[in-house]
Amino acid sequence: MIKRLVITTSVAVGLSFGGASVAADIAAGKAAYERLNCASCHGADAAKAISPTYPILAGQHADYLKHALTAYKRGAQGAPATANVRKNAIMGAFASQMTKQDIDNVSAWLAQQPGPLSVKK
Ligand code: HEC
Repeated sequence: MIKRLVITTSVAVGLSFGGASVAADIAAGKAAYERLNCASCHGADAAKAISPTYPILAGQHADYLKHALTAYKRGAQGAPATANVRKNAIMGAFASQMTKQDIDNVSAWLAQQPGPLSVKK
């Protein structure tokens, strides 16, 4: 019964929003990275952070970045630490300011930036 309800709901959501309308917007991702001051720690190009102990984001896989940002957000909301929850005061505060769409957009933009993490093509 519950399973049927879930399936019906997801079909309805899929039909009303479609796939394309929730696609990441790369320009909006760059704008959000600037607006939220991510550059003050991770660097304007996201390839060189202000401290070598801060992670490099440029060229990281978008899926990984999305997962990380969502995990910080969950951690800030009080979820106990698990594989899908990150407890970090700094990033918890920043990720909490991001909508799901911000996270998708910023992750897509970061993944496209050249950096030492990316495989040269
Ligand atoms: C005050 C400094 C600071 C600011 C500003 C900041 N970060 Fe971070 N960020 C960090 C630190 C430190 C870590 C590592 C935290 C940890 O150990 O989990 C981190 C980790 C991350 C990670 C995880 C990377 C990985 O490889 O797992 C992502 C993604 C990230 N930050 C994105 C952002 C975004 C997007 C913004 C802006 C909304 C932002 N950060 C703003 C300091 C900062």
